[in-house]
Amino acid sequence: MNFHIMTLFPEMIQQSLSNSITGRASDKGYISFNAVNIRDYTNDYKHHKVDDYTYGGGAGMLMQAQPIYDCYLSIKNKISEKTDKKPRVIYVTPQGSVFNQKMAAELAKEEDIIFLCGHYEGVDERVLEEIVTEYVSIGDYVLTGGELPAMVMIDAISRLVPGVLSNDESAMTESFNNNLLEYPQYSRPEEWMGKKVPAILLSGDHKKVDEWRLEQSIIRTKERRPDLYEKWLLENPPKPEKKKRKR
Ligand SMILES: C[S@@+](CC[C@H](N)C(=O)[O-])C[C@H]1O[C@@H](n2cnc3c(N)ncnc32)[C@H](O)[C@@H]1O
Repeated sequence: MNFHIMTLFPEMIQQSLSNSITGRASDKGYISFNAVNIRDYTNDYKHHKVDDYTYGGGAGMLMQAQPIYDCYLSIKNKISEKTDKKPRVIYVTPQGSVFNQKMAAELAKEEDIIFLCGHYEGVDERVLEEIVTEYVSIGDYVLTGGELPAMVMIDAISRLVPGVLSNDESAMTESFNNNLLEYPQYSRPEEWMGKKVPAILLSGDHKKVDEWRLEQSIIRTKERRPDLYEKWLLENPPKPEKKKRKR
């Protein structure tokens, strides 16, 4: 899976993603990051400007269409050397659909994804109309730029690319899988500050441990995320009780 990120701050992306799990996965070749500086594509060779005032007035500057479009073309041309498939282009924006685990799983199947990170007041609408295939937000708040949202998405997607996590199991049991949050977990020592690890986890009975974990996941989801719990309940309706036979 290859992530191409159009940004005004490529170092920010390259530095952050080259650490921890994403860094290791990229060293091993499961994923790659290609952070491309939009400023390198401006036609303003003198001042290297990429933004300008908005027509109609209003606060702040807007990223101009031309450097973004040329940056996009250079990435798209490189991708089309190896595939005929048109890459998905995600503009990270507070005006998009809110990102979730389901989207991450779906995007993890792609070979190439292009992200566009906005800055200032955002981006000239015309280039968005021309290149963007989807608009995605990471939540209902406004950030300074699209770099953090793009990295949040890339991190979540990468975990679902086969081979990235050393233990494939761990993505399966993590929160949001099947609309449930993950159960509570404990490590050594068995007792800390007078708090003991639940006895069932020390029993060695894997079936009972699994049952306990599922039960805890359900309780936790119901308490902390009633919206998710409702979704889980719809997919897992309680089994009707068996009628007792009359004698
Ligand atoms: C200051 S914001 C612009 C906000 C824009 N004026 C608006 O009201 O929708 C600058 C850039 O940050 C990114 N951004 C900010 N908040 C975001 C969010 N919640 N999700 C995804 N991207 C976001 C977008 O790329 C956006 O173009």
